[in-house]
Amino acid sequence: MVAQPSRVQPPHVEVRGLEKRYGGVHALAGVDLAIARGTIHGLVGENGAGKSTLGKSITGVVAADAGTIEVEGRAVAYRSPRDALARGMTIIAQELALLPARTVIDNVFLGIEPRRASVVDRRRLRRRYDELCAHAGFALDPRALVGSLRTADQQKVEILRALARNAELIVMDEPTATLTADESARLFSDIRALRERGTTVVYVSHFLDEVLALADVVTIMRDGRVVRSAAASAETSQTLISGMLGRSLDVIHPPKRPPAADAPIVCSAESISRGAAVRDVTLHVRAGEIVGLAGLIGAGRSELARAIFGADRRDGGRVLIDGVDVSPRTPRAAIRAGIAMLPESRKEQGLLMGRSGVENMTLPHLREVSGLVVSGGRQRAVAADLGGVVELAATRERAPVSDLSGGNQQKVLFAKWLYRTPRLLIVDEPTRGVDVGTKRAIYELICGLAEQGIGVLVISSELEEVLGLSHRVLVMRGGRLVAELTGAAATEQNVMGAAFGALETESEAA
Ligand SMILES: Nc1ncnc2c1ncn2[C@@H]1O[C@H](COP(=O)(O)OP(=O)(O)O)[C@@H](O)[C@H]1O
Ligand SMILES: [Mg+2]
Repeated sequence: MVAQPSRVQPPHVEVRGLEKRYGGVHALAGVDLAIARGTIHGLVGENGAGKSTLGKSITGVVAADAGTIEVEGRAVAYRSPRDALARGMTIIAQELALLPARTVIDNVFLGIEPRRASVVDRRRLRRRYDELCAHAGFALDPRALVGSLRTADQQKVEILRALARNAELIVMDEPTATLTADESARLFSDIRALRERGTTVVYVSHFLDEVLALADVVTIMRDGRVVRSAAASAETSQTLISGMLGRSLDVIHPPKRPPAADAPIVCSAESISRGAAVRDVTLHVRAGEIVGLAGLIGAGRSELARAIFGADRRDGGRVLIDGVDVSPRTPRAAIRAGIAMLPESRKEQGLLMGRSGVENMTLPHLREVSGLVVSGGRQRAVAADLGGVVELAATRERAPVSDLSGGNQQKVLFAKWLYRTPRLLIVDEPTRGVDVGTKRAIYELICGLAEQGIGVLVISSELEEVLGLSHRVLVMRGGRLVAELTGAAATEQNVMGAAFGALETESEAA
């Protein structure tokens, strides 16, 4: 038989033996990877696994020390991102590189404006802009100032910029880290539209559910190496996590230690109502108990938490701590009554990296502690108190936060939001946007607090998190509690069934 010439297309990009060292850090330790044209290729891994370095290498931002990069079967050697772009490869980094004071259209065509006798041809510019939007499958006001746009729209500008330069492969490095759920959903449809048009997208994200829903193929990285590449349909968030960690999933969630059946109730919220968002919700949390609050976006979970915490006005109902009606009207009153709440947005209200743990922990409490003047001794006493609650070693409290491990930084962040030892701790989306290792640290922290007798209410959109962490799961839908699930009844299926309203009659089965 005569060998037929292969009709198989070479991959859009293929790297072999890619290596990159930063001093002693082996950021890429021999990466082999092929990415097919016109696919969405997910890239996952713990912080420091080498995802960004890989993305930067194939787009010319970083020069690898060894190994080869082939585009469409031909070896390339880039000296700059511009070289890579000439081959159609570019990256949209987390820090967007736009000119905020210029318009969308100016940013998109900066440096490549169509000109007539050296003057920018505005009519052609506008025509090309419209073509570009049609090609991308989305629209954006060309005259808007980039600085006035939301992050999500600024990302669109970056995408248009890349397409205007004929990018055929776009690496997106954690594009949804700062987006709302709504904005993320829109970005996903934009990314799918790009794929429709044959653009290859390498999608780096910590949100495994997103990656599974969006990507055709997912590559897992660990310690600068590729663990495996597989069809997204062949993976689950469990298999991805196991691959990322190199160990099995039960390591992620600490063992559950439910409170004794007669553990005292630390918090009762009775008939809480707030507009249409929260309707007559009653719940109890026992000492040492972790109660998960599940539900779809808009089910009223955060609203309920805010109503209990006094951050939003209640239309009805009362809140009891240790059997005493404390019904807080403000967060300040809630804190005094023994309720702490870690808001969803705590990352932005996060840590001063150059300051010590002591300073970070006490900062929000200083006024409460001492009026105007704060003595160092007083500050340290508060820090010792808070550091004790989260079990942060005293020596670590004095180190600049930037020197601490991710897990210890989380402890400081938690301590910052605690006040002495609360009776009830409410955490809203405790692990949104963090990597698996830090996730594990946060879970340990939450379990450790519960073991000290604190009642914990966990709100999370990640079902696996709610189920893995909680002793009991409450499900909200349309502002009401529709199910309470424990033990064998607390399954993904039952929670989703209740959240979607398919399970109402069985909801008391727990
Ligand atoms: N510019 C740099 N200088 C020094 N070390 C770096 C640099 N960029 C990345 N690293 C290190 O390389 C490793 C891989 O980093 P990175 O590619 O950013 O991982 P990921 O994106 O998966 O979190 C990490 O240990 C990181 O600290
Ligand atoms: Mg990265």
